[in-house]
Amino acid sequence: MDVFVIEGGRRLSGSIRIHGSKNAALPLMAACLLTDEPMILSDVPNLSDIRNMTRLLGELGVHSGIEDTDHGQTITHRVTDATQSHARYEIVRTMRASISTLGPLLAKRGSARVSLPGGCAIGQRPVDLHLRGLEALGAKITLEGGDIEATAPNGRLIGAPVFLGGPFGSTVLGTANILSAATLARGTTIIESAACEPEIVDLANMLNAMGAKIRGAGSPRITIEGVDELGGTSHRVMPDRIEAGTYMCAAAITGSDLTLENCPLDAMMSATDTLGHMGIDVEVNDRNGDPMRSSCTISRSGEIKPVQITTQPHPGFPTDLQAQFMALLCLSNGNSVITEKIFPERFLHVAELSRMGAQIHRQGATAVVTGVKELTGAPVMASDLRASAGLVIAALAARGTTIINRVYHIDRGYEQLEEKLSGVGASIRRADAEEFADSAMSI
Ligand code: EPU
Repeated sequence: MDVFVIEGGRRLSGSIRIHGSKNAALPLMAACLLTDEPMILSDVPNLSDIRNMTRLLGELGVHSGIEDTDHGQTITHRVTDATQSHARYEIVRTMRASISTLGPLLAKRGSARVSLPGGCAIGQRPVDLHLRGLEALGAKITLEGGDIEATAPNGRLIGAPVFLGGPFGSTVLGTANILSAATLARGTTIIESAACEPEIVDLANMLNAMGAKIRGAGSPRITIEGVDELGGTSHRVMPDRIEAGTYMCAAAITGSDLTLENCPLDAMMSATDTLGHMGIDVEVNDRNGDPMRSSCTISRSGEIKPVQITTQPHPGFPTDLQAQFMALLCLSNGNSVITEKIFPERFLHVAELSRMGAQIHRQGATAVVTGVKELTGAPVMASDLRASAGLVIAALAARGTTIINRVYHIDRGYEQLEEKLSGVGASIRRADAEEFADSAMSI
């Protein structure tokens, strides 16, 4: 197993190009099940989740031709065998986003069997809203041996009003599932309380280019007029706003000037506004005619100021940046309050940051972060993707060496993290855990 070895205290300078978004790419890939024609996706990040989705699509009869480019991968998907509609537990358990194949399979093939994803490190993560939404479109759903079995009576879903509001707001992948399924339903579907995340807009744009009739994506009400069939298309995946936000935190905590290229600033206002309140400047260099692919420079001259953060559905502050901002606030000059309203248990990084000298007091879904003068390097454990990114941020500013164990969590969502950071001056390298067996055992 790999570890990251990070020597803190280096200033960063230079520029980092943001890759295509993992969370946009996964439902886009699943949507290739909706057509018999080739689908070409470019700017797809080369990550383990993407490889798992490619493997799953392979089992579902999709041939994927992968070409490496300067900007991630271009993947051409084509359905060659539509007889196999079972997403098995062996793959689903490695990647919850496998659930996004359910809507497309059901809509196109009339039936689907998708293993029910279990809980994960960040909480329970039920899929009841996905299932209720598909039932509203006429699907018959049962649970067999841990699998969701869904069928569309007479082979086709029927458009209907669907309400996707749950106890924590809407659902992103649930919206992607219902949106994709409704494109081929008979009649009109209205999704009320739809997720407004930019990844949903990216999906709707691609589906419309395939011939779907979707209006209102990016707002809480999406209207979909079903069509009889969809064609193929080429689509460039939107840049990753969470990767961009993570590098913004890296620049801010090290007091560096760092430029980000291909940065989806238009989808990041809550994060950049929060950075502004913390005394961190995000200067736009060039919008490149597309504010979703801007160039900007992050810099900080004074101390990091404390703030209050509450995670919320888009356009509120994203839960996927909570751990990274918490790491940054560990070095602020006061008390910050962070409340997690999407995944109330998503605080596994608190104990690890405390090992590095952070002062964090958690009570339920709220953490109070009292800024300290310095963090110190320590052996720590990556527990989930974004928690691990928070540890990297802290390690970049800590005195001494931090060894982050289980970096396979980071590899799920950050392409070439160590190359990108060392390219701008950070001291970070990947090593075999064996080399640090003693430190690992002391955890
Ligand atoms: N929820 C329900 N019922 C459902 C679905 C969700 O109660 O049927 C609850 C969840 O338990 C949670 C809230 O609703 O409390 C929001 O969950 P959502 O369904 O929106 O999450 P998701 O679609 O499964 C995506 C991202 C996550 C990101 C969340 C929230 C992908 C592949 N995953 O998950 O990303 O945290 O939206 O923005 O797009 C990550 O990248 O590290 C990650 C976890």
